[in-house]
Amino acid sequence: MHEAQAIIERVRRVSPTLQRLDVAVDRRQAEIAPGQLLLARTTDSYDPYLRIPWVPVAREQGTVVIERPAYQSYTPGQIVSLLGPVGKAIPLPETIRALLLIAYQAAPTALLMLANAALARGGGVALALIGSAAYYPVETLPTEIEVIRAHDDLEWAERDRMLGWAEQVVAVAPAGFDLPAYTRLMDHIQRLRVEPADGYAYGLFHPPMPCGVGACQACLIHLRGGHEAAACTDGPAFDLKGVRLDGA
Ligand code: FES
Repeated sequence: MHEAQAIIERVRRVSPTLQRLDVAVDRRQAEIAPGQLLLARTTDSYDPYLRIPWVPVAREQGTVVIERPAYQSYTPGQIVSLLGPVGKAIPLPETIRALLLIAYQAAPTALLMLANAALARGGGVALALIGSAAYYPVETLPTEIEVIRAHDDLEWAERDRMLGWAEQVVAVAPAGFDLPAYTRLMDHIQRLRVEPADGYAYGLFHPPMPCGVGACQACLIHLRGGHEAAACTDGPAFDLKGVRLDGA
């Protein structure tokens, strides 16, 4: 696993609740792809013991843009230790032109690089913000993204139309909410499509990652057929057809 020092070059408040950090990183980390993350240590001590997941929302010529809560304190010139890139890129085949992103109970941060990649190739992107995700400050998003807000996925009026429109679906939910949310998502998809194609629906899994290299087995995801895979090396995105969901 690659560890390197990085420098926070700029700190920008982008909404009352969020700030974005422009972080100068080395060449390898500058190649980070949608879905991958960095594990950050911002102090010289081991408090907190676990590194903090930093998920880029954009990358530009040697810089990655990291979104963090506004109440946290960062200063330009601050040096941080970054481990990664952790995990694999979210697959986005060239043929995909209609991408539905869904954030359940969490900021859609981990989906934004993928949204930009799809927009850059001329695709359409819709973003559903479900539950507490609906409070995400949408003024920070590209205007081309169609944003849908809903209190929960049962009351989401546009759901079936959007699932019918989408050629690929990628969802994110925090640990603890992920399996129930993805189970309901696959129920909705199977009601509309009976048997979705492989690679149609991905879910991102972000359990705590103590090592980030597949060594500690703290981030194992249970797959169908009795298999397991580490979110830090085989994920964080998994084809939901292959995941052992609740009740599966
Ligand atoms: S974080 Fe240790 S195996 Fe994934």
